[in-house]
Amino acid sequence: MKYINFGESSRKVSKIILGLMRISEMSVKETEHLVRSALDNGINALDLADCYGAGKCEQILGRVFAADPDLRGKIWLQSKCAIRYDEEFTYYDFSKEHILKAADDILTRLQTDHLDSLLLHRPDALMEPDEVAEAFAELHQKGKVLDFGVSNFNPMQMALLQKALPRRLACDQVQLSAAFTPMLDAGFQTNMKWDGSAMRDGGILEYCRINDMAVQSWSSLQYGFFEGIFLGSPKYPELNKVLDRLAEEKSVTPTAVALAWILRLPGKMQAVIGTTKADRVTQSAAACDIELTRKEWYEIYLAAGNKLP
Ligand SMILES: NC(=O)c1ccc[n+]([C@@H]2O[C@H](COP(=O)([O-])OP(=O)(O)OC[C@H]3O[C@@H](n4cnc5c(N)ncnc54)[C@H](OP(=O)(O)O)[C@@H]3O)[C@@H](O)[C@H]2O)c1
Repeated sequence: MKYINFGESSRKVSKIILGLMRISEMSVKETEHLVRSALDNGINALDLADCYGAGKCEQILGRVFAADPDLRGKIWLQSKCAIRYDEEFTYYDFSKEHILKAADDILTRLQTDHLDSLLLHRPDALMEPDEVAEAFAELHQKGKVLDFGVSNFNPMQMALLQKALPRRLACDQVQLSAAFTPMLDAGFQTNMKWDGSAMRDGGILEYCRINDMAVQSWSSLQYGFFEGIFLGSPKYPELNKVLDRLAEEKSVTPTAVALAWILRLPGKMQAVIGTTKADRVTQSAAACDIELTRKEWYEIYLAAGNKLP
């Protein structure tokens, strides 16, 4: 496993993070097995959000921690807040009051006294940076949260928030996979008179590198917006051919090659995986044992259906 120094706390965090968005139907025992398989492979990081399973995913992990008090200390724990599921509709809430309450509720469900990282899940157009800063300061002073980050933010949104914060934002968690690359596409096609030149993200990868922030990829093996896994999909014959060949050459699985493709990007890259299977956790961890050459990286990008000018 490989690690990065995360945020201002400089905690050592694995480049593969196990996401627990899909565990709401799993038992405490099954979840414990999954978490231990991550630790056995050097993955020390878990990702959650208060809305996953309407809090159930955090509750299940909390029960795992309660059953073995030593386990929490071995884990770097991240959750997210600010998506509010109202009875009528969903919206985003960065008010100080909501962030503080959400953080306390997360800690209660997880049966822990602190989070290593708390992310704001999706941008709130009504954000008041000073209000967020007050909430973060209180959570940090009380020892409830060590580092703070964001998710699905563009660079201007990060810069606007950062201006009010005394501590550096630690990361932006965003959708990225070999079959989902809007963050890269426009960069290759700058200043062209065709659609590929349209920048959709505002330069997230560059902003995070300039500001020493980690980039965490979510849905690291999916195409579209939760449309499915590209591995083995008939929609991606060329991509699978290349991933399968490289996997064989490097004695790993196509899963590992697909994740290594994300981690090959420069800067503090981390890949969040969402599998619920211990053997797939092991396959994913092997992404850190290989490094793709420049040519291999571009071959995968092109095989996913992309073009270079
Ligand atoms: N910040 C955000 O807005 C945001 C949004 C979405 C997700 N996330 C985070 O990112 C994490 C990962 O997202 P994700 O779950 O969408 O990622 P993912 O790893 O791309 O997808 C996981 C899904 O793919 C299946 N899968 C994995 N390998 C497979 C294979 N070789 N063949 C067939 N199926 C395979 C898994 O099934 P099995 O369980 O059977 O392996 C699981 O259903 C989440 O847990 C969450 O922590 C964040």
